[in-house]
Amino acid sequence: MTERYELTRPVFLIGFMGAGKTSVARRLARACGVASVDMDTYLERRCGRSVREIFAEDGEAAFRALESEVLRELAAMEGPLLISCGGGIIERPENLEVMAGTGLVVHLRVTVEEAEARISNKESRPLFGDLEAAEALRVRRMPLYERAADHSVETAGKSIAQIAWDVRHLLEERGVLCQLPE
Ligand code: S3P
Repeated sequence: MTERYELTRPVFLIGFMGAGKTSVARRLARACGVASVDMDTYLERRCGRSVREIFAEDGEAAFRALESEVLRELAAMEGPLLISCGGGIIERPENLEVMAGTGLVVHLRVTVEEAEARISNKESRPLFGDLEAAEALRVRRMPLYERAADHSVETAGKSIAQIAWDVRHLLEERGVLCQLPE
């Protein structure tokens, strides 16, 4: 029989665009039978518009306000979720408070080159820009990610499966991912 797990608190995967947050969360959720949600996808369904459209029509500030609302909603859900956050979640101090106050925050560290290689659809990321702009943004945000995170996981040279494995061990060690009795 497959082992089943539960989360004791929400887990927030944070990090720059292309760090692998969504794929890692999906993979881990499938392997452990826990529920995961991608914040951008959830926000897009809730608003009936894509992230790109929201940025283009209402601007970044409006997107950030929606993002904070969605974060609060997901963090408060019964049955803790594995949440892959948008790369800019660390831009608002109130988001850091929500995450620190409710769950465990894991930062997936990535280089800009690796991020670019992992991103299949740059059109959907209005803030990625060219490599130089993306690197400037990543460097500015790095201390914010590090400050927000309880743990950081290095993703350089690793496959999604390996990163998911590292995160899984970390969550088990921290007692956030627990095996259910059969
Ligand atoms: C953003 C990252 C994106 C998305 C939006 C803004 C950012 O999410 O929320 O385009 O500010 O870094 P991913 O990190 O999932 O690409």
